Amino acid sequence: MAENKTADPNKTHIFDTTLRDGEQVPGAKLNLHEKLEIARRLARLNVDVIEAGFPRSSPGDFESVARIAEEIRGPEICGLARAVPEDIEVCAEAIKGAEKPRLHTFIGTSDVNIRSQLRKTRDEALKIAVDAVSLARSLCETVEFSPMDATRTEPAYLRDVVTATIEAGASVINIPDTVGYAVPRQFGKLIQYLFENVPNIDQARLSVHCHDDLGMATINSLTAVQRGARQIECTINGVGERAGNASLEECVMAIRTRQDYFGDIYTDINTKEIMPISRVVRRLMNMPVPPNKPIVGDNAFAHSSGIHQDGYLKNPETFEIMNPADVGISESKLILTARSGRRALRHRLEELGYELSEEQFVRVHERFVRVADQKKEVTDADLEAIVKDETHSTPPTFLFNYMQALSGTNLVPTTTISVKRGDETLEASETGNGPVDALYKAIERVTGVKMKLESYAISSVTGGKDAMGEVTVRVRRNGSSYVGVGASPDVLEASAKAMLDAINKAAHEESV
Ligand code: KIV
Ligand code: ZN
Repeated sequence: MAENKTADPNKTHIFDTTLRDGEQVPGAKLNLHEKLEIARRLARLNVDVIEAGFPRSSPGDFESVARIAEEIRGPEICGLARAVPEDIEVCAEAIKGAEKPRLHTFIGTSDVNIRSQLRKTRDEALKIAVDAVSLARSLCETVEFSPMDATRTEPAYLRDVVTATIEAGASVINIPDTVGYAVPRQFGKLIQYLFENVPNIDQARLSVHCHDDLGMATINSLTAVQRGARQIECTINGVGERAGNASLEECVMAIRTRQDYFGDIYTDINTKEIMPISRVVRRLMNMPVPPNKPIVGDNAFAHSSGIHQDGYLKNPETFEIMNPADVGISESKLILTARSGRRALRHRLEELGYELSEEQFVRVHERFVRVADQKKEVTDADLEAIVKDETHSTPPTFLFNYMQALSGTNLVPTTTISVKRGDETLEASETGNGPVDALYKAIERVTGVKMKLESYAISSVTGGKDAMGEVTVRVRRNGSSYVGVGASPDVLEASAKAMLDAINKAAHEESV
């Protein structure tokens, strides 16, 4: 096995791109506070690098990269830039406050990228890459370069680009499988080819960045590590463009669980933080994970067949290859009911990964008591819905106050909504084709904010007749799309809260 130059040759660096590649997903847009919350958790997870965003893409992205660079200590803070001088200069400015800044620049190197997107020749693309790395190095000590679409790039040309960009000063070379096209053996051979044919490869760390279009992002990343790559670019829950990126939890836990296979290779990830951050990411990005998702899915450690349950009870190792506690899944058997006190509630919320201010906790507790009065047991899913509903990372402009709806056969659906804006109480009534239509017209009237409803989805948070309903709306306003979520045992109230949540996000964005 070839070995890449790094302080400890067995350490595999974890480069998290949840806030950059992950945030590119439609509907997963995060505001500044949300990005900071995730960045703090990534630091606790002990990732080596946080790719915080793409500063030139928007002023909002610039600001969040700059804030993360100033506030987060521990991991390197990386910004992405195309191989374009203005991108690189803006990126260097955004990351300059970081304790350990890293500038990541890229250009497409496959023929389809060079000809169709860049409309250049291979020689011209190579020169642009070298100039970009040289400029980046003049502005930042640590420069990473990615030949985008590397797995569809002619290997000899890839070798030349990698050699030239290391020569120009890149100390990390990332090999992206941009479109998720690679298969493990072939990808491993490509990594080996680079180790064997790039003369100055010992002057850089080799990294991989795999997408999951064919479901092979994790195995491709791990195969590259076996061939000597020592950085994996990945995301929490595998979020990312299209089918997503390699998922951090899968790569890290595979290396840890199969030490017998991976030998001395290790990561520095604090695995107990995996489940808490997974929950935060799904909540803030509005991207639920399927129940059978490895490591973090609801069923990942659930045993349902009789034989499995029997074996598990006799010895967990019969059917469990990982200890759930190692990934931060609590073994707490605390059942929350109307009689549970504030301490039990706070403890469970902490286990679920929530850090609430005192004021937020008071609101969550009040709501918990109301829900617990209606239901026998308040589940984790109920709690997550309550917290989502009661805590807002940005101060809400409009607060739900109350609503009344009239509907039925031969009745014109009519809804009245009352909201609070500061000290003011506002109220409006409307009729519509159905109760939700009447409600949304009334909300438009009371807030004065016009939204185009793009999608409306309702789901039950838990089973049973007393389940909480969760409504997710996607709305559009002035070319931007906003997702709002609301939960309540009353689905109309959940619908109202979801729309107000989206309106508050739009109002916040428009005011900054
Ligand atoms: O998938 C990709 O190629 C990327 C690059 C910018 C590294 O995200
Ligand atoms: Zn990518």
